[in-house]
Amino acid sequence: MKKWKIAIMGCGMIAQDIYIPQIKKMSKAELAAVCDINAARAKECAEKFAIPQWYSDYDELLEKCEFDILMDIASIPAHHEINMKALKAGKHLYSQKPVGLSVEQVTEQIEAAKEAHVKYSASPIHLLRPDIKKVREIIANGTIGKVTMIRVHASHGGPEYFQYRDADPSWFFKPGAGALYDMGVHGITMATAVMDRPAKEVGCMAAISEPERTVRSGAFDGKKIKTDMLPDNYLITLNWGDGCIGIIDTGFCQKASTVNMLEVYGTLGTVTILGELRIGEGDGVRLYLDDPEKKARGWMDPLPQMYPDKEFEQADSIADLIEAIENDTETGLPPEHARHVIDILCTIPKAAEEKRILPLHTEF
Ligand SMILES: NC(=O)c1ccc[n+]([C@@H]2O[C@H](COP(=O)([O-])OP(=O)(O)OC[C@H]3O[C@@H](n4cnc5c(N)ncnc54)[C@H](O)[C@@H]3O)[C@@H](O)[C@H]2O)c1
Repeated sequence: MKKWKIAIMGCGMIAQDIYIPQIKKMSKAELAAVCDINAARAKECAEKFAIPQWYSDYDELLEKCEFDILMDIASIPAHHEINMKALKAGKHLYSQKPVGLSVEQVTEQIEAAKEAHVKYSASPIHLLRPDIKKVREIIANGTIGKVTMIRVHASHGGPEYFQYRDADPSWFFKPGAGALYDMGVHGITMATAVMDRPAKEVGCMAAISEPERTVRSGAFDGKKIKTDMLPDNYLITLNWGDGCIGIIDTGFCQKASTVNMLEVYGTLGTVTILGELRIGEGDGVRLYLDDPEKKARGWMDPLPQMYPDKEFEQADSIADLIEAIENDTETGLPPEHARHVIDILCTIPKAAEEKRILPLHTEF
């Protein structure tokens, strides 16, 4: 069986805690190299996980290392440049979110992938999640009738609050990153994934609610950081037309919550993904039906798990990418969807500043 060689850009929290341990268990993938602008971190990471090569210079990685797939899991502002170089070098690509900072950047990446005849898979991973797939199926089957509203909850207490990191988390609060790009991308991806069609308009109320923070975990525990450059608290509204609207809360200002991550309301019922935002199948999906023809009115038992024997995890995106390469099919995380999400992300600051509902221009 062919093992696809992977090189990783960015040896931070998500690389070391999530992707590398998960990829090491995959039968069809092997790690060829890691690279980080922080040379000590790259070296330490390679040694810790017995990865044969490490680099601190991306051009050197591309020139000297033989590999098939580049995983871009570096900090957000670095994504576009990293992605373009990988695609131009003819590497298949998986990029963490958001894959770029403008619609134009993502279009450039999509065109570069087509030109190089490589597969390009864009995080976040929600389109592959079994619970999201189940909700899409329920909506597509007409089980809850015509969809009238979607409500998504995609907030947490901040990357400095609970995620353990060796790297200084200050970059999450600076222009080029921020709560909208880091967390809003999840809420908007989930909403558009479930609706399975692009939104037409966006509005937003945003606030800087915690202008100073103290790092509460990891190597920089106790460090005070100024977090007043970008809003950290958002209420986003979306309009799909045809009587269907949506609301998404997102940001870094909810230390804990009991709100379910996603709920869709239709003329014949409601479908809910239980629990807080996560990647695995977690707490499951519940359905409320009000269908006089079926003589049903009330909450149904939780739906059976789709993959009861396997925990769904981040590296499933790499398995999906490998399948697309081997069968020459589309990936399950198309960059065109990511581009629509980035269109919404880029329109939100203007909508908030001008206190207006603004049109969206992309499709998927
Ligand atoms: N999808 C998810 O569930 C999820 C969760 C957490 C983080 N993320 C995303 O993963 C990415 C990394 O997040 P993290 O939490 O690991 O951050 P982190 O700060 O812990 O690590 C980022 C690493 O990237 C390195 N880096 C920065 N610029 C670079 C460049 N130009 N070339 C090479 N390395 C570079 C940094 O030195 C650091 O080691 C971000 O895009 C973030 O949004 C996704």
